[in-house]
Amino acid sequence: MVAAWLWLLCFLVPQALPRAQPAELYVEVPENYGGNFPLYLTKLPLPREETEGQVVLSGDAGVAGEGPFAVDPEAGFLLVTRALDREEQAEYQLQVTLETEDRHVLWGPQPVRVRVKDENDQVPHFSQATYKVQLSRGTRLGVPFFFLEASDGDEPGTANSDLRFHILNQAPAQPASDMFQLEPRLGALALSPEGTKVAKVSAEDADAPSSPNSHVVYQLLSPEPEEPAELRAFELDSSSGSVTLGAAQLQAGQNILLQVLAVDLGGTDGGLSSTCEIPVTITDINDHAPEFTASQIEPVSLPEDAEPGTLVTTLTATDADLEPAFRLMDFAIEAGDEEGTFSLDWEPDSGHVQLRLLKNLSYEAVPSHRLVVVVRNVEELVGPGPGPGATATVTVLVERVVPPPQLDQESYEASVPISTPAGSLLLTVQPSDPLSSPLRFSLVNDSEGWLCIKEISGEVHTARPLQGAQPGDMYTVLIEAQDADEPTLSTSATLVIHFLKALPAPTPTLAPVPSRHLCTPRQDHGVVVSGPREDSDLAGGHGPFSFALGPNPTVQRDWRLRALNGSHAYLTLGLHWVEPREHVVPIAVSHDNQIWHIQVRVIVCRCNVEGQCMRKVGRMKGMPTKLSAVGILVGTLIAIGIFLILIFTHLTLARKKDLDQPVDSVPLKVAV
Ligand SMILES: *[C@@H]1O[C@H](CO)[C@@H](O)[C@H](O)[C@H]1NC(C)=O
Ligand SMILES: *[C@@H]1O[C@H](CO)[C@@H](O)[C@H](O)[C@H]1NC(C)=O
Ligand SMILES: *[C@@H]1O[C@H](CO)[C@@H](O)[C@H](O)[C@H]1NC(C)=O
Repeated sequence: MVAAWLWLLCFLVPQALPRAQPAELYVEVPENYGGNFPLYLTKLPLPREETEGQVVLSGDAGVAGEGPFAVDPEAGFLLVTRALDREEQAEYQLQVTLETEDRHVLWGPQPVRVRVKDENDQVPHFSQATYKVQLSRGTRLGVPFFFLEASDGDEPGTANSDLRFHILNQAPAQPASDMFQLEPRLGALALSPEGTKVAKVSAEDADAPSSPNSHVVYQLLSPEPEEPAELRAFELDSSSGSVTLGAAQLQAGQNILLQVLAVDLGGTDGGLSSTCEIPVTITDINDHAPEFTASQIEPVSLPEDAEPGTLVTTLTATDADLEPAFRLMDFAIEAGDEEGTFSLDWEPDSGHVQLRLLKNLSYEAVPSHRLVVVVRNVEELVGPGPGPGATATVTVLVERVVPPPQLDQESYEASVPISTPAGSLLLTVQPSDPLSSPLRFSLVNDSEGWLCIKEISGEVHTARPLQGAQPGDMYTVLIEAQDADEPTLSTSATLVIHFLKALPAPTPTLAPVPSRHLCTPRQDHGVVVSGPREDSDLAGGHGPFSFALGPNPTVQRDWRLRALNGSHAYLTLGLHWVEPREHVVPIAVSHDNQIWHIQVRVIVCRCNVEGQCMRKVGRMKGMPTKLSAVGILVGTLIAIGIFLILIFTHLTLARKKDLDQPVDSVPLKVAV
């Protein structure tokens, strides 16, 4: 049994020996090696006797194939072919074997660990580019309130990655240049107890030094030392005499008088003492950003034609700082004015800024502007930046301006004989641009009522005879023209009427006008009156003519004249009953400031039952009526029977004369 066990052991040992793991080789390569390559690293313990076979290098990913390592088979050296970067890979695990061509392992595997030795090639980085920390009042001095963080890619635990923090600069250096302290290893930021040191008092005592007689201690007498710590504005270190800031809040502009007592004998009873005073003025820092009193301004309406320079609005900003220099402000239009249509105007120390128009507005281009005005301190601001109150928004609404209508003349004049009858056209008022929107005309102050204007055409006529006007006088009325579509748009012009002497009375050259008949009480009949004929030798004798009755009140009362068309008018009785007789009716015919006076003779007679002029039977001629014909016949027969001979003798005595033509509808012609 024992022999068998031994045999087994003897058999196993030679089998296990070639697989025994050789001790690991450890090699260090400097990172970023700047010398020549290949760089020989270490000699491999290849067996001398094995001259056949080839050295095979294998290892973790990245090494096999084109890896940076190789073996010089002649010299048996492991070598590296290029520079290594520790931050890319810090360590490599390699194996070296000696193999036959059919991959039979003759020697190895020999493990090799290659470590890349760090070089300080990594820059430390803060965890953030900017840190923001808010400190509350009463933050304790020397106690860290914030820890900065930074990292370094170099090998941890080595000097290459051992970081230290320093404060390079404090801006602003107010109220002291070293307000903060930074623990260099941990990056712990704290308020520095020194930057709060206000003053240091020191008393001298001529007694023997280092004896109680010269042991001076200090006490703060004023302000009240008995206040609880959180209400004390200043603290005094009794042994050093250093005065530091307390927890209580100070106001810029405050003046505080510190009274310090110095007592020897270490402050015990019987010590000698003296006092000193330290006046402290609390200065201001620019820790308040200016703010607008109103950040939303009511929309401002500006007419499109507002002139450059027009004041749009005034904005007011305030700054809570005390120091005048910290209250100086700068204003700018931050948004909404890309075209530079507006400008700002201010006195540096006033806090008022005027927003003015710099260029013409255009409703079509920009009907409204939304401007953002921003205010900033001239001096650099300390502490938190400006809040929302530092901007104000102004909305400017542009009002469309439509030009008022324009007339073809700025003022109008006409010369008119005072005898001009009612209804005469004087002139026509027109818009300057015939294509502009239609106008409505009216007379503003025609106090005499002499004139009238056609609302749409603008024709100015005499409304009535110009009674009361004197030759040489002037009469001025205002004409108003409104845009028919937009009645708020209007314009006005003056019309000056120069009165001239009345035209000469009707000329005797006027052809006598035949008289005509009209019967009364009034029937449906009238007399047609015509203007001058076109073939008359008068210049401009082509209508339209205006017809008017003469100014005589009786004529005006008894007669009516109505235009039929441009060349004819119709004359009728004005009253129900007009005295039957011959009437001469004066009528003025006018055209283009020319006037013709005509007299129309009308015989007014009584109406018979048929509504025609009643006439004496015996005076008639031509067609008799039926009744008179029968009467004449009977009378004639009786006369024949009684006075036959007498009749024959006196037959011619029965003839009577006749009066006139009964026709009443033949137009009268006027010839001047
Ligand atoms: C601004 O408007 C005025 C009046 O309307 C005009 O005379 C002037 O030429 C305009 N200016 C510009 C720069 O358009
Ligand atoms: C009408 O107004 C104009 C302009 O105000 C004035 O010149 C004119 O005298 C006035 N005419 C009358 C009749 O009041
Ligand atoms: C005007 O009216 C008169 C009478 O009715 C007539 O004879 C004449 O032809 C008319 N003229 C025109 C231009 O219509």
